[in-house]
Amino acid sequence: MDSPRVLLQLCLSTILSIFTKVFSNVGSWYGGACRGPNPPPSDRNIQPQKPAGEAGTTPTSVNYHFTRKCNYKCGFCFHTAKTSFVLPLEEAKRGLRLLKEAGMEKINFSGGEPFLHERGDFLGKMVQFCKVELQLPSVSIVSNGSMIRENWFQKYGEFLDILAISCDSFDEETNQMIGRTQGKKSHIENLYKIRGWCQQYKVAFKINSVINSFNVHEDMTEHINELNPVRWKVFQCLLIDGENAGEAALREAEKFVISDQQFQEFLDTHRAVSCLVPESNEKMRNSYLILDEYMRFLDCREGRKDPSRSILDVGVKDAISFSGFDEKMFLKRGGKYVWSKADMKLEW
Ligand SMILES: C[S@@+](CC[C@H](N)C(=O)[O-])C[C@H]1O[C@@H](n2cnc3c(N)ncnc32)[C@H](O)[C@@H]1O
Ligand code: SF4
Repeated sequence: MDSPRVLLQLCLSTILSIFTKVFSNVGSWYGGACRGPNPPPSDRNIQPQKPAGEAGTTPTSVNYHFTRKCNYKCGFCFHTAKTSFVLPLEEAKRGLRLLKEAGMEKINFSGGEPFLHERGDFLGKMVQFCKVELQLPSVSIVSNGSMIRENWFQKYGEFLDILAISCDSFDEETNQMIGRTQGKKSHIENLYKIRGWCQQYKVAFKINSVINSFNVHEDMTEHINELNPVRWKVFQCLLIDGENAGEAALREAEKFVISDQQFQEFLDTHRAVSCLVPESNEKMRNSYLILDEYMRFLDCREGRKDPSRSILDVGVKDAISFSGFDEKMFLKRGGKYVWSKADMKLEW
């Protein structure tokens, strides 16, 4: 007597569960697309063609280029002012927390010039958040140094592990020719001043140099030894289509490019400098996890910067599969090193 009723109940509950599943998925599909910060630009959610990162890539070390604006005009620059967008602070923090939950240990803030937005306060607040709230082992910045003031160190220095200042030449004229300058201010004097502050406020000091046709014959040994950075990153000038090469680009960097052999000669000249970490084009191209101003991973494998969807919309796991990140090369170039100032045993 009961069996037809039981059968009917079973059918009804199956139909109900199918409906529930379908509608909950519709909800999350829409949730994924609509959630997010300020109205995104039309290209923020372009779905890239090629998922390629290995499934399960951990964002151990992330470079967040939160602004593209800059006060310098380096002729070779490969991250140019294509937009003036910066996420609201709370959205940036939400993204940083997502990265931490996905396994981030090191964050590097870059740009554009990271000290430009809100005179460095926006940057300082993110640095403090990453160290105090997220407890990241390593928080670092790459800057041209021109906008840094001593009171920034007083306010935020304790939360920062490493400050890298870019300097491509110890000859003012060469810096002028490269565009690594603002007006007549001395980039080199400023570099030395910041080195002093790093020592005073206990921040590890690093130098980045881009080797190009204007500085390839320079011997920087004496200055680098004097400045004594924890690391001297030496990059071979890299071309990126749409940034510093090709039609849509804001820079034409072809005249800065050097051959592999020229790069090797520069390294040979500086072989006695023990803190030198070389990065050829091959090593550099895909070995960085780069997030742009919308928190989209940028895939450089095709020689361009192809954006993923934003981690704020689709989460880290989905977005990172479109990053083109080469984890083996990251390890090969020494991407993982002693990156907490507490572990560096520096003599301040
Ligand atoms: C894009 S910049 C942004 C941070 C800051 N404005 C600065 O110059 O340090 C980040 C790093 O990329 C380096 N860089 C810029 N253009 C490059 C290129 N074409 N090839 C290799 N490195 C480059 C800069 O020298 C700097 O060390
Ligand atoms: S490389 Fe030069 S132009 Fe590019 S963001 Fe840095 S300072 Fe600005």
